[in-house]
Amino acid sequence: MPVCKRDKIVAGNWKMNKTPSQTRSFIQQLDPMLEGVKGCRVVLCVPFVDIPAAAEKAGQYSVGAQNMHFEKAGAYTGEISAEMLTDLGVEYVIIGHSERRRDCAESDVSVNKKIIAVFENGMTPILCVGESQEQRDRGVAEEFIGLQIREALCGLTEELAGRLVIAYEPIWAIGTGKTASAKDAQDMCALIRAKVRQLYGDKTAESTHILYGGSMNGRNAPELLTCPDIDGGLIGGASLNPEDFIKIVRSAAL
Ligand code: PGA
Repeated sequence: MPVCKRDKIVAGNWKMNKTPSQTRSFIQQLDPMLEGVKGCRVVLCVPFVDIPAAAEKAGQYSVGAQNMHFEKAGAYTGEISAEMLTDLGVEYVIIGHSERRRDCAESDVSVNKKIIAVFENGMTPILCVGESQEQRDRGVAEEFIGLQIREALCGLTEELAGRLVIAYEPIWAIGTGKTASAKDAQDMCALIRAKVRQLYGDKTAESTHILYGGSMNGRNAPELLTCPDIDGGLIGGASLNPEDFIKIVRSAAL
């Protein structure tokens, strides 16, 4: 059994919540609470317009975005490029969240192009994968997620795959209060790691971070975060309140 050297990552996904001034007041409360937190990287994936406010005090936490265009620049009205994000100090970008796959026709092909563009610009992608309730009921969840991973990682070098963050987010658990059991979440995260191992080998699979997302909160986080293949969480609802969010961070920290 290789020695596991992965630190934990707890990333908040604010989705379409909070204004820049609300962001400043959130950070004012959260920042002192992060004092002394060790062994856990904290990331705040905020709406584009909140990035400058979130970046003002970055240091104990990193700033993330929730999407990005894969092209460098050009006639893409309403889109945001990697260079725009790095210029503001963004370090992580969520790619392929199920809400974007559902509402913005995000495909595995565009997800793959975005992942490559995020890496090319020195940031870290947080790739979201996960099955629907219907796929789970039909027993095709594993096959579906395997395919999502294979397509998303297409053309990625071993080195980059090892730096990737993958979030396993079962669609039926997102925003529903219905968390996957620790066993189900662990099994699926282990399966994702096995898929990375199959594509890139053992060393890469051991360094890729795999997070769980879907109704994680201060109560269920301790059990989920002690599972061997769960390296942290992608948190929606419970990341909007500093008191709730810090509970999860503390369960992940050393
Ligand atoms: P949730 O969202 O924690 O509110 O379920 C998670 C996510 O969509 O990233």
